[in-house]
Amino acid sequence: MKPKVLVTREVFDEVIEYLSQYFEVTSNQSDTPMDPETLAMRLSGKQGAVITISDRIDAALLSRCPNLKAVCNIAVGYNNIDLEACTKARVMATNTPGVLDDTTGDFTWALILATARRLTEAEAYLRAGLWDGWKLKQLLGRDVHHSTLGILGLGRIGQVVARRAIGFEMKVIYHDIKRAAPEIEQVCRATFVSKDELLTQADIVTIHVPYSPATHHLIGKNELEQMKPKAILINASRGGVVDDAALIEALRSGTIAGAGLDVYENEPKLNPAFLELKNVVLAPHIASSSKATRLNMAMLAAQNLVAALTGGKPPNLLNPY
Ligand code: 8YV
Repeated sequence: MKPKVLVTREVFDEVIEYLSQYFEVTSNQSDTPMDPETLAMRLSGKQGAVITISDRIDAALLSRCPNLKAVCNIAVGYNNIDLEACTKARVMATNTPGVLDDTTGDFTWALILATARRLTEAEAYLRAGLWDGWKLKQLLGRDVHHSTLGILGLGRIGQVVARRAIGFEMKVIYHDIKRAAPEIEQVCRATFVSKDELLTQADIVTIHVPYSPATHHLIGKNELEQMKPKAILINASRGGVVDDAALIEALRSGTIAGAGLDVYENEPKLNPAFLELKNVVLAPHIASSSKATRLNMAMLAAQNLVAALTGGKPPNLLNPY
C-alpha cells in the first residue's frame, strides 16, 4: 500500500505524476484555499503533505494529524510552519531554498525600476486617456544608475540583487545580522554598514530577510524617518517585516518618495489605503512566479516529500528529526 499524501493547492501536472509514482495522492487542483478546519480534515490519515504559505502548520493542527510525518513547503520562507511543534510531533518540515533566487532577484529589480521611474503610475495615466502630449516635466522619476542601493539581508536573494546592481554602476551597501564572507562581499561589491548607516545613506532600500519575531516591523515609523525623503523602499520578502500602516503614512506625508511591494501584512487583504496612493507599485506576491521557477519549487517540495517518506533525509530539512 502506498502512503497517502495531500497536495494542498494546485500544482503542475508533472508534480502530481511524480508524486503518484510513490504515493496515493489527494490533490486540490481546483485550488480552493483551505481554512484550518478543512486542512485538518483533509490531512487526516495522510502521512505527508505538499503545502504552501497559505497553510498554517501548528501544534493544534498537528495534534489532529497523528499519521503525519512530513510537511513540504513550496516556498523558501517558512513562517507558516511552527518548527518546534513539528519537531515535538516528529514531523519533518522542508522548504525550497536556492531554486527561486534568480527569479526573485529579477523581480526585485522590476520593482526597483518601476518604482523609481513611476511605471505603473505612468501606465494608469495613459490608460485613463489623460496623456495629451509630450511635456518636459512629465512624470519625472529618479535615476537608479549610480545611486546607492541598501540591501537589508545579504542572503541568497540579497546577493542576486547586489550582483545585478553592478550593471547599474551603483554603490551597494548592506546590513545583516552577520557580516558576509569576504568572497561574497567581493563578488557582490557590497560594503557592510550598520542598519542606521544603511537607512540614512541609501537611495533605494531593499529588504531580503526572512520573517520571524526578530524581523517583525524591522521597518517601522522610526526607520522610515531615518530614510532620505527621496528614497524608495522595496519589499519582496515577507509581509510583517514592514509596518504597513507606518509605510502608508510615510508615503502620504512624503517622509519617503515611494515604495515597491510584493508582500503585505494580512495577505491577500492588503491595507486598502495602499490602493489610493500613486507613489507605490503593488504586486500580488509573484516575485518567484516564472513558469520554470514555480515548477522547480513545486518539484523540489515533492522531492523532499519522497525522500522524507521513503526513509531518506530530505534535501531541505528544516528541523532536527
Ligand atoms: C512563494 C515566497 O511563491 O518562497 C517564498 O518564500 O514567498 C514565494 O516564492 C510563496 O511563498 C508561495 O508559497
